Amino acid sequence: MVGGGQGAFIGAVHRIAAELDGEALLVAGALSSNPARARASAEAWGLDRSYDSYEQMAALEAKRDDGIDFAIVAAPNHLHLPVVKAFLESGTHVICDKPLAGDLDQAQQIAKAAAVSGRLFALTHTYAGYPMVREARDWVASGRLGELRKVQVEYNQDWLREPVERAGNKQAAWRTDPERAGISCCVGDIGTHAHHLVEFISSRRIESILADLTSFVDGRELDDDASMLLRLEGGARGTLVCSQVACGEANDLRIRLYGSKAGLEWRQQEPNALMVKPAGEAWAIHRVGDGYLGEAAARSTRTPAGHPEGYLEAFANIYRDFMADVRRTAAGEPALGNYPGIEEGLRGLRFVQASVDSSNQGSVWVDL
Ligand SMILES: NC(=O)c1ccc[n+]([C@@H]2O[C@H](COP(=O)([O-])OP(=O)(O)OC[C@H]3O[C@@H](n4cnc5c(N)ncnc54)[C@H](O)[C@@H]3O)[C@@H](O)[C@H]2O)c1
Repeated sequence: MVGGGQGAFIGAVHRIAAELDGEALLVAGALSSNPARARASAEAWGLDRSYDSYEQMAALEAKRDDGIDFAIVAAPNHLHLPVVKAFLESGTHVICDKPLAGDLDQAQQIAKAAAVSGRLFALTHTYAGYPMVREARDWVASGRLGELRKVQVEYNQDWLREPVERAGNKQAAWRTDPERAGISCCVGDIGTHAHHLVEFISSRRIESILADLTSFVDGRELDDDASMLLRLEGGARGTLVCSQVACGEANDLRIRLYGSKAGLEWRQQEPNALMVKPAGEAWAIHRVGDGYLGEAAARSTRTPAGHPEGYLEAFANIYRDFMADVRRTAAGEPALGNYPGIEEGLRGLRFVQASVDSSNQGSVWVDL
């Protein structure tokens, strides 16, 4: 793993998710930009090998007979390009956190490096790992909603409501810094999850957007709030709202999709339920673990019916599908690619770029 040292946010989640099914073990890391902290973090996790830099790790692991099978990238956005490239070029598969990079140009460079290397690449858009999100995708694909007309997605948080980046919050410091976050804060950080969720569940691309980005906190260079109109391929319309200054909300991600026959609603804070809303009939709550669910939801569920599972397991579902491909390709079989990858990452950055361009031009329609 690169990143994820003591005090980091998402690295520990990656470790749990990778190891949850007993199919992988974290053995090596360049866990921090500070070598002493990297070593202390590796020791606390009982890792065999701690490196002072990701360059050193990529080079030395590739030379070992028992070197790593894949690398996890859990470092800030500006490092995705150099770190991902270093591992791909050393012949190592990579699983990287979103967004793919800080801007579209960096994302395209990663795409090129991945294509040249022929190695596997996964992007941890966590929400695509939830069983009921996969069930919602099946609903849309099977035509049970009828013709898709409207998608409404919201992702609201409040942890950037004050200038915490100037009060020692490390996660906020890099996310609000254009040098390290890229061209956007809120849209890049959580808008990309909402964008991916729309395209994943609907199986349709967002073709164009009209966006209004703003920053409510004085002195903040990047957006902390955004509202958008969406046009999807096939004619559906939509709205996407994301905010990191929405007081009272910790992580309120929800999506509603409406077709000509029925609607669907999924909320991250009640992830084991999918609300089905047929026109003119009673609503129904479909639940994780029940026998009527489709294959994708069923194979993404670990606990018995009625026992909640959530964030860590959703993350682990992305890992499980990725690791299945690591094993398949090692055995000479083709990869299945049942997880977000380069294409989804590129689309995410096209979406971020289009939202920034739209807003900067006075909120005009911009194609993705
Ligand atoms: N999938 C999700 O839901 C989700 C959630 C949170 C964060 N993320 C993504 O994960 C990434 C990390 O975010 P975070 O909130 O954990 O950040 P963080 O600031 O908490 O942690 C970043 C870690 O990277 C380390 N680091 C920095 N430079 C390094 C270097 N040169 N070599 C090695 N390590 C280095 C830091 O020391 C720290 O340990 C970001 O790309 C973010 O967008 C994704």
